[in-house]
Amino acid sequence: MERKHRPPPLPASPFMPQPTVDLNNGVVTARLPSGDSVTIYLYGATVTSWKTSSGKEQLFVSSAVVLDGSKSIRGGIPLVFPNFGPPIKDHATGGLRQHGFARNAAWEFLGKSSSESAGDDSVKLDFGLGPSGLAEPIRANWDYNFGLVYSVTLSKNKLHLSLLVKNEGTKPFEFHALFHTYLALKDISQTTVHGLRNTQYVDRLLGDKTFQEEHDELPITAETDRVYTLPVATSENNDAALVVKEAGSPSFVVTSESLPNVTVWNGWIDKIKGMRDFEPKDGYKRYLCLEPGSVLKWNKLEGGEVWSGSTTYEAKL
Ligand code: BG6
Repeated sequence: MERKHRPPPLPASPFMPQPTVDLNNGVVTARLPSGDSVTIYLYGATVTSWKTSSGKEQLFVSSAVVLDGSKSIRGGIPLVFPNFGPPIKDHATGGLRQHGFARNAAWEFLGKSSSESAGDDSVKLDFGLGPSGLAEPIRANWDYNFGLVYSVTLSKNKLHLSLLVKNEGTKPFEFHALFHTYLALKDISQTTVHGLRNTQYVDRLLGDKTFQEEHDELPITAETDRVYTLPVATSENNDAALVVKEAGSPSFVVTSESLPNVTVWNGWIDKIKGMRDFEPKDGYKRYLCLEPGSVLKWNKLEGGEVWSGSTTYEAKL
């Protein structure tokens, strides 16, 4: 029988440990009671650290990283928007730099939300960017009224990233978007990527030609720079997971929603040698970029329209 004067649900105990979130000098840090933590620079809304409760760092960051806002952050998770790769002449993004402006822009921290219910150990951090966060020359090169909301949700062993793009104006615009994640590895020679077999990829080292992936398990044994196209997973059909294995054991499971592509990038010896902000030079052995995104075709938004895409990294080791 329905009780007439049902007592309100019990509030979370004031003694129950809650996630903590700090903003200091342009850096947001969140920590769960389980010990999982994440660090995000407002510069580029770049995640620079994701640790699981054991204290294990899951992201690779160069030891020569530049963190003063004069250069995009080498490592962690830079955001790519509105163009992926070098600027494409004759496109509206043609005057922008490689990978667009989002990773170099001054983002705003919009706030946190965490459920107060017992046992729900997660925290969501929201970041926003609009034309006012861009330097004048960039605005002049991409003169659209846009709004980005980037949400980073930390839960036990998981990092969920979601990007929402809104056309706040009346002029339509086209864009790419991608999460440029540098996963930390013990040893690239022991690493394989699973879940790509029978998909097509564009090989950026072979003149952007398209190939079919034959490997069940893809080893990384040389410079690799490929953009794969995956069957798009939805919330109902979310089985298009990619698995990174180290020495045969799963270390990351990656699932995405509404993102048709994933870039697999490792600069290997020579390319890394030429990158001044990438140290140590043998650090190519300890990272793999696995970058879910939507980058082979332009996404188009008419005035008032919204696009969103998201991905989840689950750490298994
Ligand atoms: C990857 C690209 O996403 O980013 C590579 O596929 C590129 O071609 C790499 O080299 C790093 O780019 P950047 O601009 O951060 O040096």
